[in-house]
Amino acid sequence: MEYGKLPISLASYFLLVAALLVANNYAEAFAEASIEGSSTVHRRQRIGVKVKGIGGSRKTSKFGAQCGQGWREQYARHHSAILQSEPSRQRFAVVELHRNGLGDRLTSAVAVFYYALLSGRAYRIDWRGVAGVPLTAALDKPNIDWEVGPGDAPPGAEGTKRVDWFLTHGLHPPDSPPFQFFGGEDIRLQWRDMRTVVMSPNTGVVDKLFYNRFHRQQLFAWGLRPETAVGCALDFLFQPRAEVLDLVRDNFMALSEPQALKIGIHVRMGDAWLKNKEYGDCNREIDYEDLGRWFRCASKVEEEYRVEKISVHWYVVSDCFTLRHKAAKMFGQKVLLPNQETVTEHMDYRSGNSTRDLIAFRTTVAEQWLLGMTDFQIITEESSYGRLAALRSLRFRSVYTMRSAEAVAERRRNVSTWECTRENYDDFQEVAVNQPWVKI
Ligand SMILES: *[C@@H]1O[C@H](CO)[C@@H](O)[C@H](O)[C@H]1NC(C)=O
Ligand SMILES: *[C@@H]1O[C@H](CO)[C@@H](O)[C@H](O)[C@H]1NC(C)=O
Repeated sequence: MEYGKLPISLASYFLLVAALLVANNYAEAFAEASIEGSSTVHRRQRIGVKVKGIGGSRKTSKFGAQCGQGWREQYARHHSAILQSEPSRQRFAVVELHRNGLGDRLTSAVAVFYYALLSGRAYRIDWRGVAGVPLTAALDKPNIDWEVGPGDAPPGAEGTKRVDWFLTHGLHPPDSPPFQFFGGEDIRLQWRDMRTVVMSPNTGVVDKLFYNRFHRQQLFAWGLRPETAVGCALDFLFQPRAEVLDLVRDNFMALSEPQALKIGIHVRMGDAWLKNKEYGDCNREIDYEDLGRWFRCASKVEEEYRVEKISVHWYVVSDCFTLRHKAAKMFGQKVLLPNQETVTEHMDYRSGNSTRDLIAFRTTVAEQWLLGMTDFQIITEESSYGRLAALRSLRFRSVYTMRSAEAVAERRRNVSTWECTRENYDDFQEVAVNQPWVKI
């Protein structure tokens, strides 16, 4: 039996995707397909997804509908005006991203983006330390040029304020500076005379911003909500490059199918496995007590939401490459399988082969993006990667977090009877705030 074969023909898939993209007036899709009627041809098919600047054409996309009005265009104009003005009048907010994995980095990127938006500074990303691969190798800049320039924060220059709120153990007590600052101060007044503010966080603060009495009204007036703010910022800032979507083209097409029920499953086995393979173990079975929980949850969600004659896709993302194949063996072809050229590695891991490292980074970005295209997300507690994807999906009541028995008990539930029913979803507080060290 061949797993991962798409249930309807490739041609129909392509038409579906094209129709979706054209209908949204969102992107141009083109394909160099040679459809020969062979069942294996989809492995060789190359789909290029070319994405245009998205300025005013987003009205019919879910982001256009849920991300409010005005701020996107206004800020994009303001941003490019700052870049063009004389140096002494420029104001920058730079986020340094050189710690932790992709989830925490993009979480930090979003936090500082809101600082830039609310303080009227030009937002810039200083991306470092990922096996020599720049962020722009995976993500395009659809609306503003966020790539840091050499003149933004010259070393040793006066007029640069460095803010490093990184805490080694990752735990931010409620009275620590980032929470006070984002939650309680007028962001426009802080460091007003500084040309550049460089922030170096590894956590998120979006929830706090919506309680900030100086900015709360503004955010709501723009049409943003705590539940949508992360997804809207990610959509405004980033667009995966065509090469990135091409790596996962079969899965991208399946998840673009508007009618299908798409269930995302993120199983993170942990840094011990990915960064340090000698010590970690990913050779685990999908047993009842442990890994089986993610898949039982997916089955329950499917039972709750399935509509007759509609296809169901399970999109499994894991730092353990073999898990998707194991899942496909157990649950059949609804489990989407990766294209062969994807590479699963932690961002910090260097293989010594720069082509491989580039593909690994693109795979990490691509899979998170695709996880954000699912209707439901069954995620791992100790990870921001899945949480961020869930927030980018702009779905509500869609998240189920797999927790330890203790963490379940803290929520006054019993792990042996708890199920992924309609009413047991995790709300925004659970997704973004309550975990002691994974905050979005
Ligand atoms: C480097 O990685 C690429 C992509 O995985 C692979 O095709 C190539 O054979 C590798 N090169 C070497 C020298 O191992
Ligand atoms: C959890 O549920 C199981 C099965 O109903 C039961 O045996 C167990 O005592 C419960 N545990 C707690 C802490 O309530």
